[in-house]
Amino acid sequence: MNADSYGPSIERTLFSPGEIAAAVARLAREIARDCAGQPLTVLGVLKGALYVTADLVRGLSRLPDGPSAIELDFLVVSSYGNSARSSGEVRLLKDTEANITGKKVLVVEDIVDNGLTLQYLQSLLNGRRPAGLRSCVLFDKPYNRRVDVPIDYVGLVAPDEFVVGYGLDYGESYRNLPYLAQLRPWVFSK
Ligand code: IMP
Repeated sequence: MNADSYGPSIERTLFSPGEIAAAVARLAREIARDCAGQPLTVLGVLKGALYVTADLVRGLSRLPDGPSAIELDFLVVSSYGNSARSSGEVRLLKDTEANITGKKVLVVEDIVDNGLTLQYLQSLLNGRRPAGLRSCVLFDKPYNRRVDVPIDYVGLVAPDEFVVGYGLDYGESYRNLPYLAQLRPWVFSK
C-alpha cells in the first residue's frame, strides 16, 4: 500500500517528516551529551518505535561526541491489540537478547499515553539491574496519564487524539506514513 492511498482517511497532518527529523536529531544530541564516551545499549520497543529507534541510533553515530559504542536490541510489546483504546494490559511478546545487567540502557518508545506500557518496561528492565536506565519517547500525549512515569527525553507533544504514522498504527495500518497524522472519525467506525 502506497502512503498516498491513505489520503482519504487522513484528517490532518500533525508533524511533517521534517519536523519529526528535527526532533529526532535534537533527541540524539541530548542523549549523546549525557552518554559521551560511554557504551550505550539502546532498546527499541517494537513495532511502533521501529523508525524512531533506527533514525536515533544513526543520528547518534553521526555525532562526534556521543557514546563510545552502541549495542542495539529490540523487544516487542502489545498494549492495544487492534483497537484505538488501551486495554491497560501490557504483554511482552518478545524479550531482548542483550544482557543489560551493569550496562547503561536507553529504552526508546514511540508514544506515551496513559503511561502503563512505559511503566511496565521500566519495571521489567530495572529488575535486571542495569547501571542506568533512561527513557526516550518520540511523541508524548500527557493528557490521560494513569501512572506517573519518568521520561528523560521527549521529542514532540502530540494532541489528545489517536495518531498514526512514523511507526504508529491503527489495526496494523498506517505505520509506513512518513508523517504523524490524525485519522478521520469514520475510520474508527468501520
Ligand atoms: P500507554 O500504555 O497508554 O502509554 O500507550 C503506549 C502504547 O500504546 C504505545 O507504545 C503505542 O503502541 C500505543 N499508543 C498509544 N497512543 C497511541 C496512538 O495515538 N496511536 C497509536 N498507538 C498508540
